[in-house]
Amino acid sequence: MAVNEIQQRARAAIEASGNLQELDDLRVQFLGKKGEITALLKTLGAMEPEQRKSFGQAVNATRDALNQAISARRQTLEASALEEKLLSERVDVTLPGRGEQRGGLHPVTKVMERAIGIFNKLGFEVATGPEVEDDHYNFETLNFPPHHPARAMHDTFYFGDGRLLRTHTSPVQIRVMERSEPPFRIIAPGKVYRSDSDQTHTPMFHQVEGLLVGEGVSMADLKGVLHTFVNAFFERSLAMRFRPSYFPFTEPSAEVDISWDKGGGSQPSWLEILGCGMVHPNVLRACDVDPEKYTGYAFGMGVERLAMLRYGVTDLRQFFENDLEFLRQFH
Ligand code: FA5
Ligand code: MG
Repeated sequence: MAVNEIQQRARAAIEASGNLQELDDLRVQFLGKKGEITALLKTLGAMEPEQRKSFGQAVNATRDALNQAISARRQTLEASALEEKLLSERVDVTLPGRGEQRGGLHPVTKVMERAIGIFNKLGFEVATGPEVEDDHYNFETLNFPPHHPARAMHDTFYFGDGRLLRTHTSPVQIRVMERSEPPFRIIAPGKVYRSDSDQTHTPMFHQVEGLLVGEGVSMADLKGVLHTFVNAFFERSLAMRFRPSYFPFTEPSAEVDISWDKGGGSQPSWLEILGCGMVHPNVLRACDVDPEKYTGYAFGMGVERLAMLRYGVTDLRQFFENDLEFLRQFH
């Protein structure tokens, strides 16, 4: 009988359908408006009443059975589609993580911030100036006469158009004094450049300039502030000496050395950490500050030298080689 044949064929096809689209095509093929079961129902009208009754029941039963088979199959297909989607989007929370790389500040940055912090507590405010300067700020107003031999001590990088890379942070003294009125109490941290390279010199390094100008400021104040700084900075007492020196922009002038173990089993020697002195009257005058009324001191310290001493580094150039093994020691 045709109904049974259709039912068997339809069931087999429904069971074999691999996705929802195939299943729907089968629904249309058997139960749709032009479907095979629907076609059988259309033949009922032409039948004898007795035959119509039994055949009608058989076709209706088949239609219901196929509807059920289709919805059962649909549930199975939907469940496995969901399963597949979940599997493809699965996150394995038990996988080991990729780990985190911890960064750290460069030792020179740390030392610079430490120095700034100490001077802030002593009442010094941070001032800045450009790294590209000119002869006027880097030398002239700092009382270096043209062709003065002290210029040669600086191994200056020139651009050839009158501009240069500042060789020290002292030009910031001028910029600060030009734009405001005394008293002044500033520090100027920053990069400076000189054509220089050996165990204690690099072509780029950092200085922290200091300037204090007011009434009745003396060399004793300068020594006091530098002693206070060195003790606070190193947190231990290191042999320190003031050595007479020369700078065109200070008079008198001195340099400060700290006892240094340069490594390799040699005797401790001295490492120069800064230059300083009483601001030269010519410098005050160039900035419209009356040297009869005001006096002041200034200093300029080498940040990498401080870092060498604090961390026991024996070659200053190591700070700029960017060897991670070296840098990680300071994290
Ligand atoms: C000066 O630069 C003066 N401007 C300092 C100063 C400021 C004096 C204010 C008086 C008043 P000097 O050239 O000595 O001075 O350099 C200062 C410090 O910078 C040195 O003591 C040293 O610690 C550091 N320094 C100098 N050259 C280098 C270099 N090539 N590499 C690393 N550190 C250096
Ligand atoms: Mg010096």
